[in-house]
Amino acid sequence: MLLDWYDAHARDLPWRVPPDRSRAGERADPYRVWLSEIMLQQTTVAAVRPYFERFTTRWPAVDDLAGAADEDVMAAWAGLGYYARARNLLKCARAVVQDHDDRFPDSEAALLGLPGIGPYTAAAIASIAFGRRAVVVDGNVERVMARFGAVETPLPAAKPELKALAAKFTPDDRPGDHAQALMDLGATVCTPKSPACGACPVQSGCKARAAGLAADLPRKSPK
Ligand code: ADE
Repeated sequence: MLLDWYDAHARDLPWRVPPDRSRAGERADPYRVWLSEIMLQQTTVAAVRPYFERFTTRWPAVDDLAGAADEDVMAAWAGLGYYARARNLLKCARAVVQDHDDRFPDSEAALLGLPGIGPYTAAAIASIAFGRRAVVVDGNVERVMARFGAVETPLPAAKPELKALAAKFTPDDRPGDHAQALMDLGATVCTPKSPACGACPVQSGCKARAAGLAADLPRKSPK
């Protein structure tokens, strides 16, 4: 089962609550989840790690970041790329302080109202930081779902179908760990090329594996 696999194989990442503590009911800090998710858009975990450590050491909470000078934040972001993210980061931190009493809102709908937070990030924060049963779907999760359900419809047309499949598999218990388990599975086992199906905790239920199609899915529409 996926959560059992996560308990044994979760990557040790600085914005995460490790599975043993998560099982005991501890939740990740919404500020750290938000910051990591913004940094991880279009950027690898390896590249993000040192930036995340520097940001959270210098600005440990959202009100610290909200009070920072624009040029300090832009300088600290230098090298991560996609600088619109850094500008929105500051706008969002200031909106949380000004409009939400220094606390990130705990629903997807309210999170979506904040600068730089789109559907994926809202779902990730609601699920990982607040334990909401939100459906967190990025490219990795789409790939895992396309294979698990042997969805032959090409992307992007398959997106609604893949999201519905992901919703069906999202549990009431530990939805944030479930989301992060899917991310880890996509990053380490259900990889784009040569997936390691023999190491997969859900191989027995995977329709693409049964059909010998895992490496061929998801299909993509020609550009
Ligand atoms: N990629 C995006 N969000 C992530 C997370 N919370 N853990 C690992 N990889 C991610």
